[in-house]
Formats: sequence, structure tokens, C-alpha cells
Amino acid sequence: MFNNTKKDAIDGSELDPNRIPNHIAIIMDGNGRWAQKRHLPRIAGHKQGMETVKTVTKAASHLGVKVLTLYAFSTENWKRPKDEVSFLMSLPVKFFNNFVPELIENNVKVAVMGEIDQLPQATQTAVHDAIEQTSKCTGMILNFALNYGSRLDIRLAVKQLVEEAKTNAISVDDITDQLISSHLMTGFLGQYQDPDLSIRTSGEERISNFLLWQIAYSELVFTDTLWPDFDGQTLTEMIADYQQRDRRFGGIKNEKQGRKS
Ligand code: FPP
Repeated sequence: MFNNTKKDAIDGSELDPNRIPNHIAIIMDGNGRWAQKRHLPRIAGHKQGMETVKTVTKAASHLGVKVLTLYAFSTENWKRPKDEVSFLMSLPVKFFNNFVPELIENNVKVAVMGEIDQLPQATQTAVHDAIEQTSKCTGMILNFALNYGSRLDIRLAVKQLVEEAKTNAISVDDITDQLISSHLMTGFLGQYQDPDLSIRTSGEERISNFLLWQIAYSELVFTDTLWPDFDGQTLTEMIADYQQRDRRFGGIKNEKQGRKS
């Protein structure tokens, strides 16, 4: 568990600019509890959570992150009360209506992964418009997982591979890790498809059907901070923590330096 109370405040200038995680994925949890603590309805937590999305997007972009993937709505979130689901579906509309100019100012390109065609029409329109309006941006990709589930992602990739094998577009021996990765919803991210750093807020320590294949070698950080309380400082501290870690990808320490080419 990441404990930010033990650390002195640090800012981005103390980070190693050459070791900023390219892809950060976040499970934004704790909106309901944030609201409950203030005797507010749960949706007030989601509304504040949307403001945090703006803050963290700008912070990540300024720090040089290449891809920020945010778990905004899971395939399981439909089980929530109807009013809450409706509110969550209205958030992308509010967010993009209001924030696209700033995204463009920050050269941030919007992407969305998940079963978008099952979302309410207004949400689909907002999403497609934002993708179109930011399509020329060349900086950070802000990738929303919306009606996303990792088992769905894997199931659809498997189906597609089987179809391709049936029509002889590929042979069974062509099925490599890379081919599977390219068929997942993160495939469009190319070299950045796997998160280097995955964060979950609110103290829960589980993955909840998020990027199960893609996080194979991700550094995981769990923090007690509730998502609406998360900010650029919290993100910076987590990147500093990430930079202390020794990523071995199943090898041994300093293997690359020791290896004769
Ligand atoms: C989980 O917290 C959070 C969600 C299911 C929704 C996350 C959505 C946002 C942060 C806003 C997204 C913004 C855009 C622009 C799409 P929870 O409600 O389960 O919290 P709890 O566990 O404390 O009840």
C-alpha cells in the first residue's frame, strides 16, 4: 500500500525525466465514500471525480506521460442503481462539452475503449465528437475505458483470432503474445499498450476486470486516497515511488547491462 503521509512533498522537477512511465492506468475508486463522508449523495462524488480527471490529465500530460488510461465505467457498473448509471453516462457529455478546448490547448488526444455502441446516444455522440475534435493532437493520449471489461476484451480478441484462423488469414502458429496484444482494445496504442504503472485509489486492493492481460509486468500501486482527493501531487509522488522500483520483467537486476550483445 502506497503511503503518502510518510513522504515529504515533492514536485515534478525531482523526477527523473527519462523514467516517466509511458503508460499509466488508473482505477478511479472512492467517489461514493468521498461523498458519504460529506453527507452528500453519491453522484456528488462522481462529479468531483470528474474534476479530478481534469486535474490529473493536465498533470500527467505536463509530466510527459504518453498514455493515461482511466477506468470510467466497467461492464459490471450497469448493476448500480439506475439514477447513478444515468449520471455516470452523463459525465462524459459534461466533461467533453466543457474540457475539449483545454485538451486541445494541452495537445491531448482523446481515445475510448469499450463497448461504446451500448452507451446512450448522447454519450456516444460526445465521445465521437471529442475523438474527432482532438484527432490532430500529438501529445498524451487520454484513453477512457468506458463500458470496458478485461474478460470482454479478451473474449472479443479470441473470437476475432478464431475467425481469422477459420478463414486462413492466420495459422494457429501465428498466435503469439504480440498478436494477441494487437487484437485487444489497447492494440491501437502500439508500443505503449501495456501500462507501466497501474494505480487504484480508495484502499481496495483488487484489479476488478481491468486490463488483465496488459498489466502482466505493470508496477501496481494501491493508495488509500479517495479519487476525488487525488491530484497532481499524488500522481507525482506515485511516479517517484515507481522510479525507485527495479523492473526486471522476469530477468535479474541489471541484466541488460551485464548481458553481452
Ligand atoms: C468508483 O467509485 C467510480 C466509478 C464507478 C466511476 C468513476 C467515474 C469518474 C471518476 C468520473 C469519470 C469522468 C469522466 C469524464 C468519464 P465508487 O462510486 O465505487 O466509490 P465507492 O467505492 O466509494 O462507493
